[in-house]
Amino acid sequence: MITIRPIRPEETYPLRHEVLWPDKPFAYVMLTDDADGYHFGAFRENELLAVISLFEKDGIARFRKFATRPDAQRQGIGSHLLNQVIDKARQLGADKLWCDARLSAAAFYQRFGMEPEGEVFFKDEIPYAKYVLHLSNSPTV
Ligand SMILES: CC(C)(COP(=O)(O)OP(=O)(O)OC[C@H]1O[C@@H](n2cnc3c(N)ncnc32)[C@H](O)[C@@H]1OP(=O)(O)O)[C@@H](O)C(=O)NCCC(=O)NCCS
Repeated sequence: MITIRPIRPEETYPLRHEVLWPDKPFAYVMLTDDADGYHFGAFRENELLAVISLFEKDGIARFRKFATRPDAQRQGIGSHLLNQVIDKARQLGADKLWCDARLSAAAFYQRFGMEPEGEVFFKDEIPYAKYVLHLSNSPTV
């Protein structure tokens, strides 16, 4: 049984680091605007298995630092979290939600109706593209 609840920014840091940027210093995963974001955690009992962070400004929402612990991936937990973020972005009045997506996760985002926009780019060696969801007409997966 998975529950999703708001968490504090610092609770996201260990999973951000372990899953996304394990070779970087721990401080690399801390965002300067974390205090302005909405952070959600997926828990099984009291164990934190996945995190995601949402930021909204002027009707445009962006999610960042989306990570599920490797042994908990492919069980539907990320889908729960992303649906939560889509709902929250709508509640905040956003009409667009976007992320810088790792291409390794592109198929996952496409299942939510997100579409690529612009060129592929790299952070370190990792290829990314911007993926965008127009919230007025998006499906819930
Ligand atoms: C991307 C990520 C956050 C998704 O989280 P997740 O918890 O694995 O997400 P889900 O389990 O909901 O879905 C992942 C895949 O598992 C599949 N899946 C879901 N439930 C499943 C189940 N019970 N059995 C088998 N597969 C399942 C989904 O169909 C999906 O497939 P797809 O990749 O072909 O779309 C996670 O894979 C991750 O942390 N990856 C490494 C870091 C990363 O790339 N983060 C995103 C940066 S942009």
